[in-house]
Amino acid sequence: MSKLKAYLTASQNRVERALDARLPAENILPQTLHEAMRYSTMNGGKRMRPMLTYATGLALGLNEDVLDAPACAVECIHVYSLIHDDLPAMDNDDLRRGKPTCHKAYDEATAILAGDALQAMAFEILANDPSIQVGPDARLKMISTLTRASGSQGMVGGQAIDLGSVGRKLTLPELENMHIHKTGALIRASVNLAALSKPDLDADVAKKLDHYAKCIGLSFQVKDDILDIESDTETLGKTQGKDMDNDKPTYPALLGMAGAKQKAQELHEQAVESLAGFGDEADLLRELSLYIIERSH
Ligand code: IPE
Ligand code: IPE
Ligand code: MG
Ligand code: MG
Ligand code: MG
Repeated sequence: MSKLKAYLTASQNRVERALDARLPAENILPQTLHEAMRYSTMNGGKRMRPMLTYATGLALGLNEDVLDAPACAVECIHVYSLIHDDLPAMDNDDLRRGKPTCHKAYDEATAILAGDALQAMAFEILANDPSIQVGPDARLKMISTLTRASGSQGMVGGQAIDLGSVGRKLTLPELENMHIHKTGALIRASVNLAALSKPDLDADVAKKLDHYAKCIGLSFQVKDDILDIESDTETLGKTQGKDMDNDKPTYPALLGMAGAKQKAQELHEQAVESLAGFGDEADLLRELSLYIIERSH
């Protein structure tokens, strides 16, 4: 097994244990809501955002124990965003992570509430989780980083632009702006939450990590757009071809497939360049950037 593959598996297992320990049990009232939260969370996502939190922590010499809570918090926001993204009022998808979407397995109201509750849970974790070792100022910065990345100037704002753009031809800067918000913001937060777990971190180092995260946040969605065309439903675990069906603005639609792939490659190179000042402690971050643009799902 390659070093990266071993790392991916280990950090997937780690965040899944941490999520399992933090999600309310299915036998606690309201049971259906707690079941739905677990149904959509404990179901084999790639866990790319938690991985980035752990890999950034590794590059900074942090102990993984202090990264479980921020890793869980970003994954909770991500899962909530997927549940709502799949709703009939948004992308109207039936399949997610190889299983019926939350509103198909339960109902729309339960899916909306499961998303709402996962969002609240993310902030509860950052506010209260005893495994976070930083003082109150840094903890507050972590909360404010994730709120900004999640809200109308982050993921939710990007989703609003996405839904408002259906059937319209966006310019390249408009498309980039949409992707930076709907997907980039949370990926950026995944890295920055690890940086904030080290309160004495040099501002210049934090800036370099932030730039790395900005590049891979965009390349992640460029690749997602490419996979929607080039992959298949079974590999993706979600219905292939939905962007075209929904008339969504995407990188391949605007730049052509070769142009989109070129863009992903350029973003990867920029991400790696941002880490020039780091040694081999940042190799995993470099490899994750490549993995993001080469992955099959
Ligand atoms: C899908 O994210 C939605 C986007 C933001 C592009 P992922 O590809 O990380 O989905 P999971 O978590 O592995 O299911
Ligand atoms: C989703 O983008 C971004 C989110 C904030 C969930 P997509 O709509 O392209 O994600 P998929 O392809 O359904 O996973
Ligand atoms: Mg969408
Ligand atoms: Mg979607
Ligand atoms: Mg997509």
